[in-house]
Amino acid sequence: MKVINKLVIANWKMNPQSKKEAEIIFKNIFNNLKNIKKTEVIICPPFPFLFVKGKVKTKNIKLGSQDVFYEKEGSYTGEVSASMLRDFSVEYVLVGHSERRAIGDTNEIVNKKILAILKSKMNPIFCVGESVRDTNGFYLSFIKQQIIEGLVNVNKPQVKNMVIAYEPIWAIGSSADREATPAEFTEIRIFIKKIITDLYDVKTANEVRIIYGGSVNPLNAESFIKEGRADGLLVGRDSLNPKKFSAIINLVK
Ligand code: PGA
Repeated sequence: MKVINKLVIANWKMNPQSKKEAEIIFKNIFNNLKNIKKTEVIICPPFPFLFVKGKVKTKNIKLGSQDVFYEKEGSYTGEVSASMLRDFSVEYVLVGHSERRAIGDTNEIVNKKILAILKSKMNPIFCVGESVRDTNGFYLSFIKQQIIEGLVNVNKPQVKNMVIAYEPIWAIGSSADREATPAEFTEIRIFIKKIITDLYDVKTANEVRIIYGGSVNPLNAESFIKEGRADGLLVGRDSLNPKKFSAIINLVK
């Protein structure tokens, strides 16, 4: 079986507010990471700050985008195409993040974006997750539908290069209800593997990387990797703090 490297992804969201700050955060993360060989670290800054990596020579840190538009080119004011991102050396693209779904990205749009990302030879980080956990397990059918509809027309070799991020909405951000537990992640990880097995096959399900996101911090990071057996972590708030973010990366290593 292929060796799978762990991933640690920084989602800066709409932060920081100046290019100077973006450069400082990136540089500090880079300076703390010189010994990291196997873990893949991916920084997803806002579009105007995608330049940050350009100035720093590193193979350890890869560039990700927080979104993309699915059309190839043309009259789409305000949108950014997959080929523009690729030309900026972007390798990963977040898609289906709950904050984008909240402002209009449906499963169909998410699917179009995934296909556009794959066509431009980048890797989608496909985010799924429910807003509440009910006791009847309806959240499971909700996640299943997100995955099935998101993967329409995605073929087997393509799905192997994808990352699926389980991000329960109730555990995201400073107003989160509570933190998720590694056991809750494990349940969904197994469930996602089963869905991928049914849609593709066991081999594909083994290779697709399933990561956790939602209030990841230096205190809980290790447990999601060790007990939850996550292939990586998607970090929001703590990715803007180079000390905390580097601590998370070291725990994953
Ligand atoms: P958080 O954000 O770590 O601040 O909860 C995670 C995310 O939304 O990707």
